[in-house]
Amino acid sequence: MDSTMRKSFLTLARCPERETVACPAQLNLTKERLTVGRAANSDARLQQKSVSRNHAMIRRRDNHFLVVDLASSNGTCINGIRVLQQQLKDGDTVTFGDVEYVFHQCDEPPEASDEAPEGAQFEATVDLGSETRGQEEHAVPGDAVQECGIVGRSCALMDAVRTTMRAAATDATVLIRGESGTGKELLARLIVNESARNTKRFIPVACSAIDPNIMGSTLFGHEKGAFTGAIGLKKGVFEEAHGGTVFLDEIGELELAMQVKLLRVLQEGEITRVGGVNPIPVDVRIIAATNRDLETALKGGHFREELYYRLKVIEITLPPLRERIEDIPDLAKFFMEECRQSFSSPVHGIGPDAIRALQRYSWPGNVRELRNVIERSMVLADASTLSVSDLPGEIVDGPKDRGLDADSLSGNATLEDVERAYIKKVLEKCENNKQRAAKQLGISRSTLYEKLREIGTRKDT
Ligand SMILES: Nc1ncnc2c1ncn2[C@@H]1O[C@H](COP(=O)(O)OP(=O)(O)OP(=O)(O)O)[C@@H](O)[C@H]1O
Ligand SMILES: [Mg+2]
Repeated sequence: MDSTMRKSFLTLARCPERETVACPAQLNLTKERLTVGRAANSDARLQQKSVSRNHAMIRRRDNHFLVVDLASSNGTCINGIRVLQQQLKDGDTVTFGDVEYVFHQCDEPPEASDEAPEGAQFEATVDLGSETRGQEEHAVPGDAVQECGIVGRSCALMDAVRTTMRAAATDATVLIRGESGTGKELLARLIVNESARNTKRFIPVACSAIDPNIMGSTLFGHEKGAFTGAIGLKKGVFEEAHGGTVFLDEIGELELAMQVKLLRVLQEGEITRVGGVNPIPVDVRIIAATNRDLETALKGGHFREELYYRLKVIEITLPPLRERIEDIPDLAKFFMEECRQSFSSPVHGIGPDAIRALQRYSWPGNVRELRNVIERSMVLADASTLSVSDLPGEIVDGPKDRGLDADSLSGNATLEDVERAYIKKVLEKCENNKQRAAKQLGISRSTLYEKLREIGTRKDT
């Protein structure tokens, strides 16, 4: 342990079932991590009904302590606010379900029994160093959230993470919904990492980027001679992922014929290679994602109803960043730290004016756009704190295309403005169906996606 390290510990402040159920009076935070929960193998075992089996974890880095909620049912709060993960400050109140502790940092810890509420049956002080298990066994969900790089503590994100954790424990098909750049792929990876299939293959398929003519062969493979150029047998994604997981990104872009074949995988658990006759059994979990309004696609006859219901056995929605602006400070700091690790920068903080400006902006490109904005601002800034003047103009003044309409563009519009407005108009006309929109625009779907990403993340003023 670092010799400069201060004593850090949690003392019990409130324990509603204290007369009947014991809980530790003090948790000494001396080692790297401490698990809190009702499970018998928790480092700090709280047997209260309001505490989940694996409720939370406290991780130490030097003198800093991070509380990570492990998808608990009743949540972990710091100073009364529910958190997914948050650093502790001296004097903070931490609540696991109904059990409340206060965090202290000082040179010597106080006597535990003096701090204890009357009538409590206290167990011995629990030390972070009381771990008897190996590191591997500590691979619990909160770690996984961090390992997947998921940052934020808004209720909306926490709800999505909680559902994701529950989904991971099952083999059910999951549909992840949300605008582009909200983190759908991160959640898909979290499901896989936390599922029983985590040692098996995980194959992401960008449905929007694959030419519809080769989609059948990509997903289901082909037999030798099935079509011109099929010089040998080729296994498809589903066969390759046997035992594992397939992530169908932008599922709303799949053509109707392909949707029928996918339905068969979900219903029968088998595929037939292109040009083949024999069904081949496959054991694959499917996670799908979309930023399209599938209900409108259903009504318009562009998405099959049976497939829609088969996919949304578990549905997870990631709200746009503008609806969870509480996540912005943590995300901004996280991306700044990432930048600092990849290039040397004098910037080591962000001012409140900059945070406020980031929280006022509407983020059409969501978290992806925020990451790009932070990266660009870090490169250009030369002061030690990022301020509002370091941010791109459109962040401060609002998105450039606000209210822009292709019919009402003035002679001052740039070619970029025109392109953006026209793409928007065509998409609206095509009910956000990228395939039809791309056709009308005379470009491929993958080019359209490229352009949409650019529009979402364009930062020039
Ligand atoms: N909560 C988050 N914490 C940290 N990074 C995030 C978070 N959400 C998204 N990101 C980052 O934002 C970018 C976009 O995320 P991701 O690819 O998962 O979004 P998506 O919803 O799948 O987007 P698209 O619909 O365009 O495919 C990635 O760089 C990802 O790491
Ligand atoms: Mg994605």
